[in-house]
Amino acid sequence: MESANSSNNGKLNMKLVFSSLVCMVFFAVCSTFAQELEIIPQPVSETVTNDKFVLKDGSNIYLNSSDDELERLAGVLKNSLQKRTGFNIGIKNDETTDGISIELNKKADMKKDGYELTIDNKMVKLSARNNTGIFYGIQTLQEILRKDKEVYFPGCKITDYPRYSHRGFSFDASRHFQSAEFVKKIINVMALMKLNVFHWHLVDDEGWRIESKKFPKLNSIGSYQDSLNSKERNGYYTVEEIKDIIQYAKDRYIRVLPEVEMPGHSRAIMNSYPELLCPTNPGGNTYCAGNKKTYEFMKEALSEVISIFGTDFIHVGGDERPDSVWEKCPRCKEMIASKGLKDENMLQNYFMKDICDYVSSKGVNTIAWYANLKDGIPQKQIVEGWHPGEAWESARAGYYTINTDCVYTYFDYPNNEYEKKFKPTWMPILGLEKVYSFDPTPDSLKESEKKFIIGSECAIWTEIVFENDVQYQIFPRILAFTEDVWTPAENKNFEKFQKRVNSLQAFFRSAGFEYDNGEKIINGK
Ligand code: ACM
Repeated sequence: MESANSSNNGKLNMKLVFSSLVCMVFFAVCSTFAQELEIIPQPVSETVTNDKFVLKDGSNIYLNSSDDELERLAGVLKNSLQKRTGFNIGIKNDETTDGISIELNKKADMKKDGYELTIDNKMVKLSARNNTGIFYGIQTLQEILRKDKEVYFPGCKITDYPRYSHRGFSFDASRHFQSAEFVKKIINVMALMKLNVFHWHLVDDEGWRIESKKFPKLNSIGSYQDSLNSKERNGYYTVEEIKDIIQYAKDRYIRVLPEVEMPGHSRAIMNSYPELLCPTNPGGNTYCAGNKKTYEFMKEALSEVISIFGTDFIHVGGDERPDSVWEKCPRCKEMIASKGLKDENMLQNYFMKDICDYVSSKGVNTIAWYANLKDGIPQKQIVEGWHPGEAWESARAGYYTINTDCVYTYFDYPNNEYEKKFKPTWMPILGLEKVYSFDPTPDSLKESEKKFIIGSECAIWTEIVFENDVQYQIFPRILAFTEDVWTPAENKNFEKFQKRVNSLQAFFRSAGFEYDNGEKIINGK
């Protein structure tokens, strides 16, 4: 018995060894052939298989419901596939077992704005709870489409949703001005990167960039920075252009957040309407906060901006009011005394609160740069911190907060040592790995504080960045940033990210972007 048993055990062991070997060889072969998906931002969960869905001339997209927006999105996918393959792709309102199926299922047990994608040999199945999720799934499909002997989508199962609700790109149109067409190009990058807030810095010392019918001098004087007729210093967006850009962004699930900076950084307005200056500050860049006319002007101007943008949130600046201007002004001093305020910092809080209350009365929420938080700011205001640590302080104080820490997010900073030579000496180097290392919600915050961080923005300030430079400044850093705000922190891995960046360069170039590795600096030349 024993010997029979041991011989049986021996056979069994041999079988086990053999089947393990078969399995090992099988998995080795599978992993050799299993394609990398190369998606940026890295999804929450992805499994790659050896299947592939081969796209052919005449393949169809199938929709499970007759929702207008879903049909528009299917058209977006169809057009993109047709453009890239030359195939004719149909759209049908049917069930399918063979094709690209897009399913909107409002009751699905999925995260908000998330999507699921399952691809096998017979079907591509994209499903989501809302059209935002469908849109993000379509962006993923654009990235993973492969073209070699066949055109195909690699087999996979993806579950994906964003880490933060506010994933922004902030663009300064005041210091230098960009064409409406170029703004759309930026929106295209944002869409591919699943970013969802275009923060448009439209007002600063160098220019007011919004057409104003109520205050025409804002354009005839305030939009013109020099007499050289330079298209990069002079100009504004017409109401028609703004509305067109808002719709363009909306079609890509991006909200436009206009910023009207105040009470400092406002020289363009002061040049246009110098009566809004303190009498003691001629040629200055700051509204007089002791002048009734300032408040009337701000409210009228903001109501015009709000009605042009049709927005439910607006950025009201609040950044870097120069010290000691209001202290010297008799009208501001009188205001400080009559309102029982401690000093000029408290006068700023009074000013901002008055403006915010007005804006809120129109049903519009305000966002402002971190300033004087300790003295109290309007309770419902969202704070955007840009100096390191400001966002944490704001979250600790219980304000909803956007953590745009400049050390990690300002893409006008140089990429590397070489580029640093061409930039102001105070600018730190911001390389790809540094951007990737950013966690908008660090572990140093308590759980109860973390929930107040709603996201982050990457930014291009344009004091020394011309339209021609912008793409060199954002690629590839925007790819790292989007993983900071979309991908769960525990899924991030810089080495793997870098491989994905390398393989996606061709995709961005073929999508019409000037994609550089951050090596080049051209400063408008
Ligand atoms: C800022 O960078 N001054 C907002």
